[in-house]
Amino acid sequence: MEAAHTHDHAHGHDDHAHHPTGLMRWVTTTNHKDIGTLYLLFSLTMFFIGGLLAFGIRAELFQPGLQYWEPEFFNQLTTMHGLIMVFGAIMPAFVGFANWQIPMMIGAPDMAFARMNNWSFWLLPPAAILLVSSFFVPGGAPAAGWTIYAPLSTQMGPGMDLGIFALHIMGASSIMGSINIVTTILNMRAPGMTLMKMPLFVWTWLITAYLLIAVMPVLAGAITMVLTDRHFGTNFFNAAGGGDPVMFQHIFWFFGHPEVYIMILPAFGIVSQVIPAFARKPLFGYASMVYATSSIAILSFIVWAHHMFTTGMPAAGQLFFMFATMLIAVPTGVKVFNWIATMWKGSMTFETPMLFACGFLFVFSMGGFTGLVCAITPIDIQIQDTYYVVAHFHYVLVAGSLFAIFSGTYFWLPKWTGHMYSETLGKAHFWLSIVFFNITFFPMHFLGLAGMPRRIPDYAMQFTDFNMIASIGALGFGLAQLLFVAAIVKCARGGEKAPANPWEGADTLEWTLPSPAPYHSFVTPPVIK
Ligand code: CU
Repeated sequence: MEAAHTHDHAHGHDDHAHHPTGLMRWVTTTNHKDIGTLYLLFSLTMFFIGGLLAFGIRAELFQPGLQYWEPEFFNQLTTMHGLIMVFGAIMPAFVGFANWQIPMMIGAPDMAFARMNNWSFWLLPPAAILLVSSFFVPGGAPAAGWTIYAPLSTQMGPGMDLGIFALHIMGASSIMGSINIVTTILNMRAPGMTLMKMPLFVWTWLITAYLLIAVMPVLAGAITMVLTDRHFGTNFFNAAGGGDPVMFQHIFWFFGHPEVYIMILPAFGIVSQVIPAFARKPLFGYASMVYATSSIAILSFIVWAHHMFTTGMPAAGQLFFMFATMLIAVPTGVKVFNWIATMWKGSMTFETPMLFACGFLFVFSMGGFTGLVCAITPIDIQIQDTYYVVAHFHYVLVAGSLFAIFSGTYFWLPKWTGHMYSETLGKAHFWLSIVFFNITFFPMHFLGLAGMPRRIPDYAMQFTDFNMIASIGALGFGLAQLLFVAAIVKCARGGEKAPANPWEGADTLEWTLPSPAPYHSFVTPPVIK
C-alpha cells in the first residue's frame, strides 16, 4: 500500500482525487457504512430538535393558562414536533440501520445502487433545513398537525409550502432508499442465503421497503393536491368548489396507517436480532415471524378509516374498520409470543441492548393494548382527539420504535466502532428512559379519559396534577438522552476493543463476515465481484 502510494506520487497523480478526505469524503461517499453513519447522525440531530419542541409543549402545559406561547405557535410546536420525529428522526434512523446491517447480513459488498444511496441521504439535510426554516417565514411553521388536514392546510401561510416541499423531498429520499433496499436484498444475497434464511431484520426491512414504495406516492399525491388547492385554483378539498375536505383524510390515512408500520416493522426486526443473541437461542418460530410481518403489512392497507370514526360513516364501514384493525392484533400477538418463547429457558443476560429489547416488549405491548381500545368504534368516538390517543401513539413510537433504535444502537455499536460501549452509561440511559417515559406518558391516559383535548395550549384546572407530572417526566426523559450521546461519543472515541463476537452466542452473519474495503468516491465506484 505504501509502495503504491509513493509510486502514484512519483507520477504526479493526486491521490486525494480518488479518495477524498474530510468533509468531501462524507459528501461523496458511496460506502454503505459511511451512509449508514450519516443517516444515524442526521436522525440523532433531528431527534434533539424534535425533543426541544416537545420541551416547548410540556413547558406550556406544566400549568393551566397561557404561559409562554400564543396558541398559534403552540400548534406550530405540536405539528413540527410530529413531522420532525416521524420523517426526520425515526424513519432515517431505520434507513441508517438498513444501510449498515443489510449488506453485511446477506453477504453483499455494498448496497445495489451505491451512488443513488449517496443521493438518498443528501436530499435529507436540505429538506430538514426547509422544514425547520418554516418557523421564520411570515405566519410561521405548518400548524395543521403532522396530518396537515385540509382545509386548514389549504389556507395557512407560506410555511405550509416549505413543509410540503420538505415532505416531497423526504418522500423521494425514502422511495429511493426503499428501491435500493429491495434490489439489494433480492439480487445481492451471498450463495446459499435463501430468502427464508435471511436474518429477520432483513425480512422486516424488505417488507417495510415495499410499504414505503406503495404509500409514499400517496402522501405525495395528497400534499400536491393541497399545493394546487393553495396556489392553482383547484378545489380538491374545498367544499365550496365541489371538493371534499374529508377526502384529504382518506388519502392521508391510506398513507398514514401503513406509515405507522413503516415505523415499527424495522423495530420488530431489531428486537428479533437482539433477543436471540442475549437468550443464546435461535429465534423461536422464524417462519411464523416472516408470515406475521407480511400479514401486518397487508392488513395495514385496509384499516385507514379507524382514524376517521367521527367524520360520519355508515355502520357497516365502522364495523369493517373496527374488526380489520383488531385483526392486526393477531399477527402482532404471534410476534410477542415468539419473542417470549425465544427467551424461555435461554441463558439470558441483560446488557443494555437486551434491557431496551425487554423494555420494548413490555411497554410496546401496552401501546398495542391501548391501540385495541382506540379501535373500538364507540370508545374511539369518546376519546377521539384526546390525550388518550397521544398516550397510545407515544407508547408505540417512543417505547416501540425509539427503544428498538436504542437497543439496536447499543447492540451494533461494537461492530460499527470497533469498541465496546460503556455498560454503566447504557444501563443508566435505559433505566432513566423507561422510568421517565412512563412518568411522562402514563398520566396522559387518565387525562384523555377525563376529556382533555390534544393540541390545545390551555386546559381546565382539574387536569393540572397529571400535566405537571407529565412535564416533569418529559424533562427527565429529555435529559436522560444526553447519556445516550455520551455513550456513543465515548464508544466512538475509543475504549475496550470489541471482540469478533461480543455477545457470545450471536452467530448471525454480520458478526463474523469480514467487511469489504470501503470505497469513498464517485471516481472509484464499488466493484461487485
Ligand atoms: Cu391507523
